[in-house]
Amino acid sequence: MNFMNILGIETSCDETAAAVVVDGTKVLSNVIASQVAIHNKTGGVVPEVAAREHVLKIIPVMEEALKKAELNLEEIDAIAVTQGPGLMSSLVIGVTAASTLAMASGKIFIPVNHIAGHIYANWLDEKKEDPIQFPLVVLTVSGGHNELVLMKEHVDFKQLGETLDDAAGEAFDKVARLLGLGYPGGPQISKAAGNGDVERFAFPKAYMGKESYDFSFSGLKTAVLQLVEAEHAREGSLSEKFKMDCAASFEEAICQILSDKLLRACDEYKVKEVHLAGGVSANKRLRALVEQKTEEGFYFDHKGKKITLKTKLRLRYAQNISYCTDNAAMIASTAFFHYQKNPQKYKKYAPALANPNLRLYNQIHE
Ligand code: KG4
Ligand code: ZN
Repeated sequence: MNFMNILGIETSCDETAAAVVVDGTKVLSNVIASQVAIHNKTGGVVPEVAAREHVLKIIPVMEEALKKAELNLEEIDAIAVTQGPGLMSSLVIGVTAASTLAMASGKIFIPVNHIAGHIYANWLDEKKEDPIQFPLVVLTVSGGHNELVLMKEHVDFKQLGETLDDAAGEAFDKVARLLGLGYPGGPQISKAAGNGDVERFAFPKAYMGKESYDFSFSGLKTAVLQLVEAEHAREGSLSEKFKMDCAASFEEAICQILSDKLLRACDEYKVKEVHLAGGVSANKRLRALVEQKTEEGFYFDHKGKKITLKTKLRLRYAQNISYCTDNAAMIASTAFFHYQKNPQKYKKYAPALANPNLRLYNQIHE
């Protein structure tokens, strides 16, 4: 049996990443040059600054990924890259580097969707004795995107819902900024929330009606903003206790909505597995809540009524936290499963344009 070694490249936002993955599951290397320290100073990503960093890091990061994998370029079978969605000026660096390398070395070139990448992170380190089973529903929650996706087989993505305004991670980042907790906001909110009172503030939870699998976090964000402004006006500053309680109540509201919609979708489509993916899937409260609801077999509907789950679900999320946030191993994995589905498509080198608004397309039906 021939193994397929794929070099994955990811530069969609603020991490320059390269990785080598065998057959979509075995990670030989996973190198990430983080720009967090740089963007921390501005409280968010400045696209031009991110792009310059990618230019400086992309070649060293690719070299390190090969070195750590103990492979040379000749032993790589295909080169994969994130085509979109993401920041145009960041994407273009990875797409140019990957396509140039693929063309110059005559290798198979596989551009992939970043959201598909997050979904495939759950296949990394997959154990033969415990394979992932379809159908499944996956919640992808990141800084830039937030989708609920049904998969009946590999590379078959049916988008059930998405955010109508902010992504969950974006809401975490904005609320962290309001509370003066630093960037990226998710981990900071999570830390502060650990010591806070989840019941102190009753934030609005937008369930968007009976049928909807879409999300909206702008009302929640505005409620936090108003609360913070009122507290400033009253007290002149925010106490540590206020910040912790606000972080805990906010985190609870967002995790309740995410977990309820996710499990309702699992119930409706009678799936075997429920997956969490993307940066926010690193959140401990979200993991615990989905775990509890899955094990005890319930979720809340749009009216707050407790509904019993009809089926037993197997829950999965990446054990390795670096697989949740942006990385290139997930891109290499996605590329492998796309290639398996349709090798003919990738026979001849075809250029790909970076696309900041790339949708989670369906490889099988579209
Ligand atoms: O997937 P990702 O690395 O990048 C995008 O594709 O956007 O996700 C980054 C997002 C950020 O908004 C960050 O605040 C959030 O994931 N995040 C978290 C946690 N760790 C990262 N949100 C909540 N809790 C966490 N522990
Ligand atoms: Zn991402």
